[in-house]
Order: sequence, then C-alpha cells, then structure tokens
Amino acid sequence: MSIHINTEAKQFHLTNGKISYIFHVLKNGELGHLYYGIAIKHQADFSHFQDGGIPTAASCHAEKADPAFSLETVKQEYPGYGTTDFREPALSIKRESGSSIHRFDFEGYTVTEGKERIPGLPATYSKPGEAENLEVSLIDRTAGLKLTLHYTLFQDLPVIARRTVLENIGNEKIRLERVMSLSLDLSDSEYMMMQLSGAWSRERHIKERKLESGIQSVGSARGASSHHHNPFLALRRPETTETLGEAISFHFIYSGNFLAQIEVDHYDTARVMMGIHPFQFNWQLNPGETFHSPEAVMTYSDQGLNGLTQSVHDLFRHHLISSNWQKKERPVLINNWEATYFDFNAEKIIQIAKQSKELGIELFVLDDGWFGKRDDDTTSLGDWFTDENKLPDGMEALSEAVRAEGLKFGLWFEPEMVNEESLLFGEHPDWVVHDPDRPKSYGRNQWVLDYTRREVVDHMYERMSSFIKSAQLSYIKWDMNRNITEAFSASLDFEHQGEFFHRYILGVYDLYERLTSEFPDVLFESCAGGGGRFDAGMLYYAPQAWASDDTDAAERMKIQYGSSFVYPLYSMGSHVSAIPNHQTLRNTSLKTRGDVAYFGTFGYELDPNQMTSEEKEEVKIQILNYKKYRTLIRDGDFYRLRSPFTSNELLWMVVSKDRSEALAGWYKMLAAPNPKNGQIIKLAGLDPDASYTINGQTKPHHGDELMRRGVNLSPEFNGVNGPWAKRGGDFQSEIFYLKRLL
Ligand code: DGJ
Repeated sequence: MSIHINTEAKQFHLTNGKISYIFHVLKNGELGHLYYGIAIKHQADFSHFQDGGIPTAASCHAEKADPAFSLETVKQEYPGYGTTDFREPALSIKRESGSSIHRFDFEGYTVTEGKERIPGLPATYSKPGEAENLEVSLIDRTAGLKLTLHYTLFQDLPVIARRTVLENIGNEKIRLERVMSLSLDLSDSEYMMMQLSGAWSRERHIKERKLESGIQSVGSARGASSHHHNPFLALRRPETTETLGEAISFHFIYSGNFLAQIEVDHYDTARVMMGIHPFQFNWQLNPGETFHSPEAVMTYSDQGLNGLTQSVHDLFRHHLISSNWQKKERPVLINNWEATYFDFNAEKIIQIAKQSKELGIELFVLDDGWFGKRDDDTTSLGDWFTDENKLPDGMEALSEAVRAEGLKFGLWFEPEMVNEESLLFGEHPDWVVHDPDRPKSYGRNQWVLDYTRREVVDHMYERMSSFIKSAQLSYIKWDMNRNITEAFSASLDFEHQGEFFHRYILGVYDLYERLTSEFPDVLFESCAGGGGRFDAGMLYYAPQAWASDDTDAAERMKIQYGSSFVYPLYSMGSHVSAIPNHQTLRNTSLKTRGDVAYFGTFGYELDPNQMTSEEKEEVKIQILNYKKYRTLIRDGDFYRLRSPFTSNELLWMVVSKDRSEALAGWYKMLAAPNPKNGQIIKLAGLDPDASYTINGQTKPHHGDELMRRGVNLSPEFNGVNGPWAKRGGDFQSEIFYLKRLL
C-alpha cells in the first residue's frame, strides 16, 4: 500500500496493487483528476494523463495567454463554481456580499497512518496497518475558507473513502449551500447506471439505465435515506456481467437526506457526485468554525458486479460494522409482531418463548405494543413505560421468565416518535418537529420528535438505557415509521434553520453512539417500517437491519437479491413468517420460506404454537441447518448467479474464504407445464481442484465439474412423473451445502 507524492509535479498516486487513484495540481492551482481504475505501475510523471489542452469552441478560459486551458475540459477533483466550468459543482457557498463564486488553490498535504473518526458521524475505520490517509488542503483567500479533502486507501481492498472538511479561516460568515462528500470526473459516459429503488414492502429493487446527456440522479429529501432510493449508485460498462468486466460503486455512509448524481456533459464525460442533498440544506459557518461532511466510499472492480459486491461486503464487515460484532454469531430470533400484533399478554409471550426454545430459537424479541396504552397505532409512542394491563408484573418479570426458558430477551423501541395521545406530548408539545404557524401532518398517526434538541436525545437515552439495565436486554429493534414533514425546529434561528435535517440525523447518531458505547454487547437492529433506513450509516451502529416488512418468500428473493449488491448477508434481517403471507396473501412452502431466509440473519415472525407437529419438526431442522451455515453466511464471499429480476429463477451462493464450504440456493418462481427435467445449475467460487460432498451425500464432485458442468437439480413434476418428482408447483427451492473433502 502506498501513497506516492511527486512534490515537484504536485501529483498524488494512491495505489495498493488493486487500484490506482491519481490526481494533481492543475496549472491554475486547483486540483485536477487524472485516473481511477485498476492499479497501474507508479511513474515519475503522470501529467500526460490530463485531458484537454486543446482549445475548444465556446469554452471560457481563465488566461488570455492560454486559450487551451479551461475547467470545462479538464477532469477535476472537487469542482467549484463561478469560473470556467458550467456543470454542477461539488460545493456551493454564499458570502456576506451574496457572492457564490469560489476557487480553491492547493496549499499542502499530509499523509497519516490509519483513520481519524469524524466528529458525530459514522464512518469506516481501520486498525493499525490497514489504511493510509491523505489530506489535501486548499484555500480560497478571498472567501476566507479552507477546504480539506480526505482520501483513505485501504490495504487489501479496491476502495477509497472520501470526505470533505470546510473551515472558516476568515472574518466573514459563510453559508454552505452544498457540500458533496465526493466528486469523480470520468473520461467517458459509456456506462449503465445501477440504483436500488422501491417503496415500502418492495425495497431495493435493481433498476438500470444507460447514462444519457444531462443530469440523472437518485436521492432523498424525506429526512431518512428512504425505502425509495438507497444511498448507493453503481456504474457498469454495458458489457459487464456479474462475473466479468469493469464497474464502480459509490456508497454514502449516512442516513439522512442524500443526493447521488451523474452529470453527462456535451463531451460525453461523466461527473459523479455524492453527498448530503443540497435541497433544504444550508449550514452557517462562522469564523473559526468547521464543517465535516459525511463519508462516501468508492469501489472499483474489474471482475464484474460480484467482484464489486465482495469488496463492499468486506469493507463493511471489517471496517464499518462494530468490531465487537464482526465475529459474534447472531442469535436465531423470534419476533412476535406478525404472531400477535398488539394483542398479547405475558402468558401468550411466555408460551411463544417456551415453544421457541424447543425449536432451537435463541432470542425472543417483544415488538410494538408493550408500553403506555398501546393497543393500536394511535397512541402511546413516547411513553416508554411498561403497559401494566398487558404485563402486570412488569418488563423485568417478563424478561426473567423468557430468560428462564433459556432465551435471550430483546425489545422494540421507536425512539424518534410521539403520538398526540401520549403523556410525553402533553408534557412537551414543543418537542415535536413542526412549524408553530401551521398544522402538523400525520404519518401512521404519529409525529417526529425534534432530535436537533439535546434534551430530547437525553430523555430517550435515559428511557432506553433504563430498560437495557432493568430488563437485561440483549437486543433492541430501533424502528422509525414515518418521514419528516413540516421540517422546522423552534430551537434553530433563521440563519441555522437550513441545518435542521442534518442536525436531526446527528441527534439520532448521538443517541446510537451513547447507547452502543455504553452497552456494546446489546445487538441493535435498525428498522424503518422495514427497510426505510437500511444504509451504511446505520450499519455502523446497528450491525443488522430489518430488510423489509415484506416477509413473503417470493418478494424477499428480489429484496434480498437487490440488497446483496451493497449489504453483507449477515446484516439483512430475514425471517420465516406464516402463510398466507401478511403482506401479499401468497402461500409459499415452509421449505422455500426457510431457504430464502437462510441468506441473511435468520429468524421467525410467527406463532410457533399455531404450527402442526410436522411443521415444528421441519423448523427444528431449519434451525439446526442455519446454525451450521451461519459462520459461512457471516464471513463468506457472495455470488449472484441468476437474477429474479430478469428470469423466473434465482441462484445465489456463498463460499467460505478458504473455499472449504459453500451454500447455494436455487429458487423457481412460477411452475411451467411439462418442464425440462435434468436441469443443471453452474456454481461459482469453488476450488476447481478439490472434491466436495453435496448435502452430505457420499459421492463427491470435483469443484471444476460443479462450476463448469454444474450440478443436477432434482426431478420436477411434469404432469406424469408423480412418483419421481421431488419438487413442483410455484416457488420451489433447493439448497446445496457443499463441504470440501480433506
Ligand atoms: C414496522 C416494522 O417494520 C415492523 O416490523 C414492526 O416492528 C412494526 N413497525 C411495529 O409497529
């Protein structure tokens, strides 16, 4: 790993043998970008990598003497506004005069080992020897602003983490109106743009489009990263597949409003940007103050989209998810939400826990409805005191009873919300996010608490930590069920009101930070009406996320397939639920429901007392299997092999790093009449020279055979082969567990 700096030519080359990232100081003192891609050997001089240099019609140039130099035709590192580039900038400011023009000249740099934390924000981290950091500082003397660009290069990963720091070193107030965390100018636009978009109950579906002239973007202005667009973008060459070709991905380590955009200009170059959404954002920077942007990371792959995914999974597993949770097994859990909704009492819960223990489940999670007078979703959010009508002996007693059955105990909270009908609202009506001059909109009958206010965060810290201690919680599901309307805080004045959304999420992070550092062994699962805030920022605090409220196996295939582009399997909460499914009314077999849920953090969301004895036996085996697979699911390399978005089938697999074991899941959506039998599926990632047993069968198979020739699926019902058919009907699945012979 190395950061090469040519001080004379003012060139920077970050390389770790996997990627190279090269930029330099342009002749006018600003920063120009030279190259990002597969590693290239270091050279004494890279200045010939610079584009432009030839006068072009109608572009503006800064120097009379050099009409060939225009910011419009060179790749830049962090483009500004007001001179010779007319594309959207990475930064927008407003000075006291009203001027937005700025221009940052290179000032100096420092290289340090490792990474510093960003005050108040989640970010990737490194242990000694795992990363190097380059900080390049630039100054606009007229505005009195210092801009520092941070680049972190990880030792073993094709990843660069970037962020921006602005410091007011002058005497006038500056208003920041747009601060992107990264900007990347690419020499051409021959790419497909991939995004993960959807809605409640169908989050993170893969959408693709060809880059076209103009701006294309995804983002959120809802106060949360959202169900609708994930803070992620990828670019792949049109010919790139899952296994071959070039691709780049961009990930924002942030949970609030975001913008991920690509601008294709009139020379067909592409400018990628990622950062806090500038819509409804501004930040007042007074003399002496500093603003830190959140972090964004870029990953490069020349081995297709699976290569990209594997690097991002490794980054998130080893440099984002708390090191305390990296190697811990996640318990198989049961959550009572779909089993009881609000209708439960202590006896019912203990019965579920008792039965769950017999099945092999390890953690019981009590979901919504345990506090205040919460018999439906119209009341009590904010009143975090046990409902003694439902649980007359209190939460401590319930927790003790569940733990006496041999399970761990966890609780649901929705700490950012309040109902109108609640004691908390009666006491603190001003704690609600609202504009005092206007009516408040409702979302699920509730309002959002103003997390820009320290006293709100302190109050929730007191409530949650008191339950963690008294009820000995091992787990918390942190839900968030509506987005922010009437975004306004009475605690912020005119100059600072534009800071509301960012300060809100800083408040959320503050509470997470305090709870996770005081209680590092409590497992947090983030949730926002399912997957409405499943993002890399949350992952820093909560190592798993409830991927979607949709527990239907067929829908989950798409949701988990899409999510797998970015998020490690072990971060995706995936549960087996009852049928007909509560979101789609669809029936799928218990086997298929389990076979889909295996590829995540496994659990159940049903009442085991309602199951037949055959179903209970099947569930016992599912749980035993998952316990066998879970280290592999946690640490292995993931491969997408057949997409449910483009075919009637899904095939995915996970292979241990040492290739000694693997788990493949094959699924078919709709049955077709008279299907071809003897169907073969090709696996990936195995050791071609090794032999593997499949599902414990005695006859071994060579790795090369399994990858090149493939493995046979079992016979499918075709209208006449009843006695031989092993599978049939809609939503079938097969699981292949491979173990290398010594
Ligand atoms: C939305 C979550 O996604 C569900 O799992 C459940 O916890 C409900 N909220 C409870 O209100």
